[in-house]
Amino acid sequence: MGDVTPLPGTALFRSTSTGSVPGTSSPSPGLILGVETSCDETAAAIVERGTTVRSSVVSSQVDLHVRYGGVVPEVASRAHVELLNPVVVSALEEAGLDRHAPAIDAVAATVGPGLIGSLLVGVSAAKAMALAWDVPFVGVNHLEAHLYASFLAAADLEFPMVVLLVSGGHTMLIVMHDHGSYGLLGQTVDDAAGEAFDKVARFLGLGYPGGPLIDKAAVDGDAAAIRFPRPMMDEGLVFSFSGLKTAVVRWVKEHPGCSSADVAASFQEAAVDVLVTKTRRALQQVGASSLCLAGGVAANSRLRARAAALADEVGVPVFLPPRDLCTDNAAMVAAAGWWRLQSDGPTPLDAGAVPSLAFPIR
Ligand code: KG4
Ligand code: ZN
Repeated sequence: MGDVTPLPGTALFRSTSTGSVPGTSSPSPGLILGVETSCDETAAAIVERGTTVRSSVVSSQVDLHVRYGGVVPEVASRAHVELLNPVVVSALEEAGLDRHAPAIDAVAATVGPGLIGSLLVGVSAAKAMALAWDVPFVGVNHLEAHLYASFLAAADLEFPMVVLLVSGGHTMLIVMHDHGSYGLLGQTVDDAAGEAFDKVARFLGLGYPGGPLIDKAAVDGDAAAIRFPRPMMDEGLVFSFSGLKTAVVRWVKEHPGCSSADVAASFQEAAVDVLVTKTRRALQQVGASSLCLAGGVAANSRLRARAAALADEVGVPVFLPPRDLCTDNAAMVAAAGWWRLQSDGPTPLDAGAVPSLAFPIR
């Protein structure tokens, strides 16, 4: 292990997000090392009692995959192998811990859902570190981890809480009754919201990953320029984004020379409109005490603004995690790992990675 030198085509980010220390009296464990390698971010973090970020290091492989217009699984797993050790060392040292014998209480790693080769790199390394340092290993569900990003900066969110979980692979409305206790309110029947952003961006030639690029392009566009469809708007809490993506592609083909900024802004408005309308319905159905957004798409400026306005209108507090905690990171994994350790205890070392792991509804 040595100092972190980003591989060619990768970039290193450090989070300075910190949370408040909660009023928990649980004596242990306090410090969790989190490891995240489910897709194309190699990340490690140290989090105290599920809420206070002591360090968070994310090495993005985005430039390695950009030439292919998406994540190439084989390339991703090889990059994780090279990046993980220096990223872990960096997270330990930034938290002021000894890199050879850190005073941590457990090692948590994402066990799914995700790319199997990528997951196995993080899970194997986390188990080896847990064995070497004689601390428990905790397997973490990546989707539950996204939700715990909210607790990193606001430990006292009120239940029942409605969570709009919007990432590259999932779009779900969840009710959280308590730590580890969830109900599924609705989800997408086809594409995830992030997938639609990525596909539309690729079609417009904006690049990859598409979400942040649509967000940026939309700033100069007119959101009312094109009235794209709002699929399944009147149908309860289920989502569908594949028809919206197809409608955008068809419209652009029929209007050569149209403004990409107008298309980006109008597409974004349609997608956000559906997300916010269904979230309003979920808040009312549940009688929720709070709202939180989670997942990469929760970094979207328009969605954040509309969600804040919705919470105001309904009269509930809303929590929007800082943008760097919305997209994949290991601080959220360490936070979810701490809570899971309290409820379920350590994960056996013979437990494997599960690429299609579902959200832990119970
Ligand atoms: O949660 P995440 O980092 O990874 C998954 O678990 O999937 O989410 C990645 C997704 C990608 O589809 C990306 O385009 C989208 O989040 N995303 C955004 C924004 N930032 C990331 N979508 C819209 N606006 C953004 N600012
Ligand atoms: Zn994710």
